[in-house]
Amino acid sequence: LGKYVITGGFRLEGSIRINGAKNACLPVLAATVLNKGISEIYDVTYLKDVEVMLEILNFLGAVVEREGYYIRIDTSNLSPKEIPEELMRKMRSSIFLMGPLITRFGKVRLSYPGGCDLGPRPIDLHLKGLRMMGANLTEEHGFIEAHCDKLKGCNIHLDFPSVGATENLMMAAALAQGVTVIRNAAKEPEIVDLQNFINNMGGSVTGAGTDTIKVVGVEKLNSVKHTVIPDRIVAGTYMVAAAITGGQVKLKNIILEHVEPIIAKLRESGCVIETNGDSLTVNGPKQIQSIDIIRTLPHPGFPTDMQAPIMALMSIANGTTMLTETIFENRFKHVDELRRMGADIKINGRAAVIKGVKSLTGAAVEAKDLRAGAALVIAGLAAEGTTIVDGAQHIERGYENIDKNLTSLGAHIKKID
Ligand code: EPZ
Repeated sequence: LGKYVITGGFRLEGSIRINGAKNACLPVLAATVLNKGISEIYDVTYLKDVEVMLEILNFLGAVVEREGYYIRIDTSNLSPKEIPEELMRKMRSSIFLMGPLITRFGKVRLSYPGGCDLGPRPIDLHLKGLRMMGANLTEEHGFIEAHCDKLKGCNIHLDFPSVGATENLMMAAALAQGVTVIRNAAKEPEIVDLQNFINNMGGSVTGAGTDTIKVVGVEKLNSVKHTVIPDRIVAGTYMVAAAITGGQVKLKNIILEHVEPIIAKLRESGCVIETNGDSLTVNGPKQIQSIDIIRTLPHPGFPTDMQAPIMALMSIANGTTMLTETIFENRFKHVDELRRMGADIKINGRAAVIKGVKSLTGAAVEAKDLRAGAALVIAGLAAEGTTIVDGAQHIERGYENIDKNLTSLGAHIKKID
């Protein structure tokens, strides 16, 4: 496991490259099950969740070879073995395998997924869509079992624009019989990346990035080469780190439109952000300005994964911020820990009122989930004295070498086991 020890008060300066997105790479890796050939994927970041996904693919019979950020996966000989529960429980994204496995093998048995505890995290929209496509699904004893000779395309209207349900159903529909239209689909950039991946395999998907996605089922999908899009949330996290330390940081390998909602909010907080092609530079202000209202929303709204990091920033702003988390029920696990550092935050249901204080003070805090942990590291960069963030393993699920990257920018942070 491990902890990060941070000495605050050092402004960040320099530049780093943003690597492939966790939330693009995980569904893409699951989608390799759809072809009986070779998938060559570039810019695959070293993250715990990626390792677990590769372990599951390996268990199913895929031949996985990795060289740096390049991965070669041969899925010609897969068998629909039951994925062991301990593997399924290691992360929520294991649920992405349900669609590909049903549509390739006509059957699947897997346990309910695990993952960050951000509230109930149901998968009802995934199951409802698959049932509509003809899968007969039973859920008992914590396992989901599905059988179906051939999934049939149909019209699905999602009750909520769920990212995972949209992705699962896109993958299931790719090899189904006929046309599937997914309405009220999620519009995140990672869904566009998955569409491109499926089309690069010979699939026929259109509309990703809008609320209506059309998938024409095909007989077969083929070998593919694909580069994962850069991680907009990792980029946003380093942008906030630059802002909170009044630093000047350049991020390379950015897709600007993916980070537009984050740029907009950081400019409101007083940052000067220069953009230039596939890079951007954040100049943090002397004093962070509070942002009256922040609401997390489905893309292209402000991303829920940036809620904890921007709360850390607002905790030392010169005013009060009203922040509402509209996506997850229980995504304020970082609030108690920020309070230990002197933040003045009041919670009322899904709303948080953050009253900026002059400065935070270092403390021993605990990362309860991936983004909450990142927020505590960010707070530690600006706090007076030393902050110890326990639970490094949560942070490493989404951030590769966060200590080395921050150190290269001038932060005083080290990991202790
Ligand atoms: C994806 O999770 C991301 N994970 C999350 O990132 C991200 O926070 C989330 O999308 C929203 O953008 C990956 O892509 C691997 P959802 P997902 O289905 O698919 C409810 C991170 O930090 N819901 O859009 O699980 C659900 O309870 C992670 O990188 C249902 O009710 O998100 C939640 O309240 C955290 N029924 C809301 O929808 C369902 O069947 C959003 O969930 C599915 C979801």
